[in-house]
Amino acid sequence: NASCRRREFLREFSTEASLRKEMSWNLYRTVVLTVSDRSAQGIREDQSGPEAVRMLEEAGYQVVETRVLPDERDLLAEEMKKICDEHQADLILTTGGTGFSMRDWTPEATLEIAHRQVPGISEALRAYSLKITPRAMLSRGVSVIREQTLIINLPGSPKAVRENLEAVLPSLDHGLAILTARAGECAR
Ligand code: MTE
Repeated sequence: NASCRRREFLREFSTEASLRKEMSWNLYRTVVLTVSDRSAQGIREDQSGPEAVRMLEEAGYQVVETRVLPDERDLLAEEMKKICDEHQADLILTTGGTGFSMRDWTPEATLEIAHRQVPGISEALRAYSLKITPRAMLSRGVSVIREQTLIINLPGSPKAVRENLEAVLPSLDHGLAILTARAGECAR
């Protein structure tokens, strides 16, 4: 009868609504920037960007764009600034250009456009990574906020991307929820 159908409809509707809420909870818009002269020239296949995309999507993030850029400090800063100021993404992950090579300027480009620094994320990435390789200390990567976008620098190898994302993903959605004002306060 009608009341039965109505009850059924309501039950279905509320399940769908809560499902939708659950699914959209983690749908932070993410841009993945691979910073590598060789990949930008097509000399080396970019494996790090795709690895980041795979892990992000598995964790429920929406990857809205991936780009491969050369190690050009000004270009990188300009690209990231635009993404932040036009609110194109909640999160920018860069991979590469954090080491000691004379062409590694990703951290400097990132700091140049930072409004606020988030040292804890990069400290945690290095602490976690140091348990895997002592060379983790050679990554100079930084994490910053500009407008309502969080930027995190990761080292360049697919292995490093995997290890660093393993370290940061469990805490990331809470930070992004606060940054994007989807959550007002820190419960714990
Ligand atoms: N971090 C993790 N977790 N795993 C790694 O294999 N490699 C390190 C370091 N961080 C590594 C890591 C090495 S060998 C270098 S040189 C630096 O990241 C810088 O890398 P990049 O220049 O590709 O950004």
